[in-house]
Amino acid sequence: MTDRYGVVGHPVAHSWSPFIHGLFARESGQDIAYRLFDFTSEEFEPRVRDFFTLGGRGLNVTVPHKIAAVRIASQLTTRATHAGAVNTLAMQEGGTILGDNTDGAGLIRDLCDNLGLVVIRRRVLIVGAGGATRGVIAPLLALEPEQLVIANRTAERAHDMARTFARLGPVRGAGIQDVEGAPFDLIINATSASLSGEVPALPSSVIGPDTACYDMAYGKTDTPFMQWAAGNGCTRAYQGLGMLVEQAAESFRIWRGVKPSTAAVLTALKDRMAAG
Ligand code: ATR
Repeated sequence: MTDRYGVVGHPVAHSWSPFIHGLFARESGQDIAYRLFDFTSEEFEPRVRDFFTLGGRGLNVTVPHKIAAVRIASQLTTRATHAGAVNTLAMQEGGTILGDNTDGAGLIRDLCDNLGLVVIRRRVLIVGAGGATRGVIAPLLALEPEQLVIANRTAERAHDMARTFARLGPVRGAGIQDVEGAPFDLIINATSASLSGEVPALPSSVIGPDTACYDMAYGKTDTPFMQWAAGNGCTRAYQGLGMLVEQAAESFRIWRGVKPSTAAVLTALKDRMAAG
């Protein structure tokens, strides 16, 4: 029987995950079925448990269920524990469910391998202090930046998050308008501002001629954050489509033991999005 996988969210109809995993499966010669599951928060736990009881092998978990998915897992990876959230559930030998989080690995792979950006000994600014930020702080600190500043509209949330991760490296919190000093080497937008077409109100002094900007959000065209960055002199502004493909590849590897190649899939995804 074909192994069954899927992505669960609410809403989830516009997810690109079936497209991405379909290409991974074809390219790596794996026989899998991958479908969308739109479950409300009330439905989430019982329906996910049913999926696994009936032989399902793995699920991606997306908004708004990533925190609820922690409860489903009988075992968490260290990176899921750090993230406080699960985006990948995998049925293991012996019938236990593993909870993992591949978002941080996806971001790092896109930054370092695809885009050739350097984090070690660099000054990095991450904007936002919600779930998206929490999922990537530990993997970023593992790359040994000189300094990681978390800047948030609500400063207190940034300070709290910095305290949570302080033992893992040089991280501090700030209010979004209080960020100062020399321009950063890398700025990552992890806010949900793009969803409403907004841009975090950062001072433009955070950008210098050599600053790279990365938006974890993505779209058919440049995101508002990328446009803001370019308007303030940034010549290297990227969006998060590569992270989307890379986190999916890492989930696929956990489920199937095979790491799919991602470059052709990213190109196909861009073409598909452009076609509308
Ligand atoms: P997610 O899980 O996507 O990170 P979240 O936990 O709701 O979602 O966090 C959203 C983040 O985007 C927060 O850091 C939020 O700032 P606040 O903590 O001050 O609410 C940030 N955010 C959303 N809209 C924003 C905007 N227009 N400008 C700046 N920050 C914004």
